[in-house]
Amino acid sequence: MDTVSIISQVYDINCFYASFGFTKKYSRTWFLKKYMDDMLLLTIDHYLDKVLGFACAYNLTNIPNYVNLALLCVHKDYVRQKIGSKLIDEFRKKFKDKHIALNVRKTNLVGIAFYKDSGFEKIKEYEDSLLLIKK
Ligand SMILES: CC(C)(COP(=O)(O)OP(=O)(O)OC[C@H]1O[C@@H](n2cnc3c(N)ncnc32)[C@H](O)[C@@H]1OP(=O)(O)O)[C@@H](O)C(=O)NCCC(=O)NCCS
Repeated sequence: MDTVSIISQVYDINCFYASFGFTKKYSRTWFLKKYMDDMLLLTIDHYLDKVLGFACAYNLTNIPNYVNLALLCVHKDYVRQKIGSKLIDEFRKKFKDKHIALNVRKTNLVGIAFYKDSGFEKIKEYEDSLLLIKK
């Protein structure tokens, strides 16, 4: 699949969830930069030419042994098929010498249930979000 199609599908998936307040909305340029920096993990159905899910990484310069999982989304038609879990596994393999940190909104009960199932633990609670880590 070409880059334009990948970025366009990733952007649409992000817009869908952002419209419900589950995630922040990112621009096509932001996703393209992540892709070019090799910080965008993808699950693609090559037969259907369809992005099923993605995860974005962000290096935390102030905490060198941690990598930030900036955003993880699975296409609405493919949730609950372990695509998110596989993306977490791939994320761990890619950054195998680092712990993972992320923020999830307190209102995102599905996200919280998913990260709990994936072995993340809460280390800090802010007004609107939770800071979770996986060592
Ligand atoms: C959160 C999200 C990434 C999960 O992806 P997924 O591929 O559906 O998750 P999985 O199939 O790997 O689920 C693994 C486990 O997480 C938990 N889980 C996932 N979705 C759940 C739901 N809707 N309700 C309760 N638990 C859920 C379950 O324990 C599940 O295991 P089970 O299906 O055997 O019960 C997906 O729902 C999504 O894209 N949500 C919108 C974006 C978002 O909120 N991202 C996280 C914050 S950035």
